[in-house]
Amino acid sequence: MNGGDGYHSYVKNSSYQRGILETSNAIIEEEIAKKLDISTSTFCIADFGCSTGSNSFPAMHTIIEAVKQKYESSDLKTPEFYVCFNDSVSNDFNTLFNSLPSDRSYEASTVPGDFHLRLLPPSSVHFAYSSWALQWLSEVPKAAEGLKSSIWSGGEGKEVYAAYLGQFERDMESFLKSRAVEMVKDGIVALLIPALPAYWDPQKEFTIGTLADLLRSSLLDMAKKGRLCKAKSETFNFPCYIPTSEELIPILQKNNSFSIERMEILKTRTLLTVDGHVAALRAVKQNILTHEFGDKIIDETFNLLKKKLQSSHAYANASNDRTIVVVVILKRNDV
Ligand SMILES: C[S@@+](CC[C@H](N)C(=O)[O-])C[C@H]1O[C@@H](n2cnc3c(N)ncnc32)[C@H](O)[C@@H]1O
Repeated sequence: MNGGDGYHSYVKNSSYQRGILETSNAIIEEEIAKKLDISTSTFCIADFGCSTGSNSFPAMHTIIEAVKQKYESSDLKTPEFYVCFNDSVSNDFNTLFNSLPSDRSYEASTVPGDFHLRLLPPSSVHFAYSSWALQWLSEVPKAAEGLKSSIWSGGEGKEVYAAYLGQFERDMESFLKSRAVEMVKDGIVALLIPALPAYWDPQKEFTIGTLADLLRSSLLDMAKKGRLCKAKSETFNFPCYIPTSEELIPILQKNNSFSIERMEILKTRTLLTVDGHVAALRAVKQNILTHEFGDKIIDETFNLLKKKLQSSHAYANASNDRTIVVVVILKRNDV
């Protein structure tokens, strides 16, 4: 269970992430021009956690055009392109296929399944891409189950925080281990991972993490009003972890199969209003909440969240958002 379905309608109707995608696409173009060193007649790209395609299609276009240019400048024949779109089995792949760009220059296929596991044949992928998906964990960490605390709240939440960080580390390792088998030597990986700064002032600023905390606090308020089971709301946690860039770097360095070619930290600049934040969070979290608590509580919970955002100074100004995105370019070492 994850935030795929609602996310599609959300990104379709908003400019959320657009600026970041433009900047990260420029980084990918530069790195392909400088670092791509593969001569092949069929070039396979895989997008891990593609959702229903709205953001994936422009990214795939950017990658393919950059590879074409690189081949042309090296006097190589343009390869045939194949794109494997991956997401969880519950993703709406019909919508993805129905909205594939008609002018695309690639054959498309889908690979439903958990990207923490092996999904594609050995040495078959030349370029792997994953955007805003690796923050989703394979499960709520066992050590955090039943603990009455959320991850961002500090204090008694430290134990939960450590359990989440450990799970994120294990999941990143599984993701990279699987991709290491699937990728050809010198294959390139581009990852866009939402992240937190090492420090921010919660009185004046906010992040994607504090937003999730406020949603959790809205659930607790619902329990106080008798609208939810108290015990269930107290121990509920999302299978999601947003690392700091300081946490992310050693996790990436630990994997010996890939070298880190480039890492850039981008400000998200989503510039969302309170209504925008509520819509964004609802798009990615509603499915999980419905699954856990039923659909009758959804409107009321998000109305409580809206009130909390409206009464906080931090959310009064969109520029107080300190969420960052880490763009990482990796290269597959010797197989
Ligand atoms: C926030 S959306 C990002 C979609 C798109 N990549 C983008 O940049 O807009 C995260 C996507 O990752 C998918 N996802 C999360 N965990 C996954 C997993 N273990 N395996 C495959 N897909 C996963 C979700 O289903 C969802 O579609």
